[in-house]
Amino acid sequence: MSAVRRPSLPVRSLTVAELDQVMPIEMQAYEFPWSRGNFIDSLAAGYWAQGLFGTDENFASRLLAYVWAMPGAGEVHLLNLTVAPALQGRGHARLMLDHLVAWSRNLPADKLWLEVRPSNQRAISLYERYGFQTVGRRPSYYPAAHGKREDATVMSLDLMASPPGSRPPKAPQ
Ligand SMILES: CC(C)(COP(=O)(O)OP(=O)(O)OC[C@H]1O[C@@H](n2cnc3c(N)ncnc32)[C@H](O)[C@@H]1OP(=O)(O)O)[C@@H](O)C(=O)NCCC(=O)NCCS
Repeated sequence: MSAVRRPSLPVRSLTVAELDQVMPIEMQAYEFPWSRGNFIDSLAAGYWAQGLFGTDENFASRLLAYVWAMPGAGEVHLLNLTVAPALQGRGHARLMLDHLVAWSRNLPADKLWLEVRPSNQRAISLYERYGFQTVGRRPSYYPAAHGKREDATVMSLDLMASPPGSRPPKAPQ
């Protein structure tokens, strides 16, 4: 096991002022990114938006990852979870899920919902290993190449079950 201590990085609320940092990450991370208008609308709607930032010593204080979520009726819908492509695979997404779960439980909410493209195996693996279960499929939910549509896999996490974030064993390679 590594003896190197990971620095704890700050997570704070995002506003319109940070969208100049959000947009380049969003454009790099997705084939069909949210527009600036989508982010502005969801901030105006009061959705929860948090960013993980570097410090002076680490990553020059820049935005590393963000999460957007919509609360309602005792549940929370995860709308957008993105890590800067160059900084993926370092646990940043898992950290943002930890923040989302803590905030959701505090509301209080008892369930987290999300949609994910069935082709996004990396994200599905993140959610499954975090404890989310696949509960359904929404046909033709996402835009896809050549004017086609892609279904969404619907996943949920029971916030009353403990502890979310536990890691089921990895499937054999
Ligand atoms: C999906 C995404 C958020 C994961 O972020 P990340 O910072 O790389 O994830 P983490 O480092 O926190 O890894 C957490 C889990 O993700 C999965 N994961 C990470 N890197 C992976 C890789 N290269 N291949 C497959 N799974 C991987 C693993 O299950 C990992 O679990 P473990 O740490 O218990 O082994 C990131 O790849 C991303 O921003 N992708 C583009 C945007 C996107 O698709 N968002 C999700 C939309 S629903």
